[in-house]
Amino acid sequence: MHRPSDARPVLHVQQSGDDIDMRFGIVGTGLMAQEHIRTLALVPGLQVAALADPVPDSIAWARHTLGAGSEDVPAFDSVEAMLGAGGLDAVIVCSPNHTHHDVLDSLLATDLHILCEKPLCTTVADARAVAERAEARARGVFWVAMEYRFMPPVRSFIDDLHDGRVGTLRRVALHEHRFPFLRKVGDWNRFNRNTGGTMVEKCCHFFDLMRHMVRAEPVRVFCSGAADVNHRDELYGGEVPDIIDNSYTIVEFDNGARAMLDLCMFADGAEEQERITAIGDAAMLEVGIPSGAKIFSPRVPLDAPKRIEREHVPVDARALAAGNHHGASYGQLLAFLDAANGRGPVQVTARDGLSAVAIGVAAERSAAEHRAVAIEEVL
Ligand SMILES: NC(=O)c1ccc[n+]([C@@H]2O[C@H](COP(=O)([O-])OP(=O)(O)OC[C@H]3O[C@@H](n4cnc5c(N)ncnc54)[C@H](O)[C@@H]3O)[C@@H](O)[C@H]2O)c1
Repeated sequence: MHRPSDARPVLHVQQSGDDIDMRFGIVGTGLMAQEHIRTLALVPGLQVAALADPVPDSIAWARHTLGAGSEDVPAFDSVEAMLGAGGLDAVIVCSPNHTHHDVLDSLLATDLHILCEKPLCTTVADARAVAERAEARARGVFWVAMEYRFMPPVRSFIDDLHDGRVGTLRRVALHEHRFPFLRKVGDWNRFNRNTGGTMVEKCCHFFDLMRHMVRAEPVRVFCSGAADVNHRDELYGGEVPDIIDNSYTIVEFDNGARAMLDLCMFADGAEEQERITAIGDAAMLEVGIPSGAKIFSPRVPLDAPKRIEREHVPVDARALAAGNHHGASYGQLLAFLDAANGRGPVQVTARDGLSAVAIGVAAERSAAEHRAVAIEEVL
């Protein structure tokens, strides 16, 4: 039976935050690292104890975000140098996508708890290698930062689905209508070879959400997409960016559910950045970000009045202010801490990260070759 969603916690509230004393290293101190640093500051007992980045300006950026006392935090130009100094409990990897494999190669040899930004890697081979090593470790949590799962309205929406609120889930449609990719340090995100392609880089979030919502594995992917509007007038060493800026992707799952992703990265003016619709045999459920509006529409007989229920899922104001992902980094961090301290499961495993990369790689191949791609072709 469906529990009223207002009875659920706004966030996965940590029961004993002030008894946690953990020292974090940050690998890659660019844009996303700033969000993690601000989020770590929300939890008593957590400390940023080391920074690793080869670019001094990025280290300075992190020190600025850390504020008073940041000059005492040691900085290194590589993850290896940071590990050599020791003294850490956990590491957050926020270096560019194409560096994850090598950075993780060093980190996976340790017992440190690892929160690795998405996508896990840029290729299926690299992601599989990392997943196998992560699973073979005797100690240390490994968690892939698929933080869209932790946006409170999305989390509430998924809880409803898993509670059976729409009946048997048959269809999921995700829409992301947003601004173009931001500039990154060294412009690494302008080329597929560094990102894995937009369907891996950006859309791994949505492919992960699809799997998580339908609780099934992908079978086939069809993607129509191209680089049509954004970055067409940019040149890097004589090269024009090659990243997809809009696409439609259909994913079929092995339980018969189907899912669709509608991505447009030249829709800066859209009211909702993300809209998700899930339809089962009993009802339809929608959610929007940033509005936090959740709309439940059960099926009704043709001549009966509609019974639409609307609610607003709130987000903790401090979590919202810490980042650009609707409070998700905070909820993700709390769940990561629970796992690291033996109080909860790893909710996004390396295997989940591998699956999201595989769907993204299949989508990139589908778009390039104008055909449906069976997941077994890439996985
Ligand atoms: N979860 C999300 O929603 C989300 C959002 C944005 C970015 N990300 C991910 O976070 C990661 C970083 O993205 P960003 O936006 O911060 O990029 P960025 O370019 O702003 O920062 C990356 C930093 O990593 C540094 N770096 C490069 N190679 C390194 C290495 N080998 N070791 C350590 N540092 C290195 C760069 O100098 C730079 O300072 C990417 O994997 C990206 O996909 C995730």
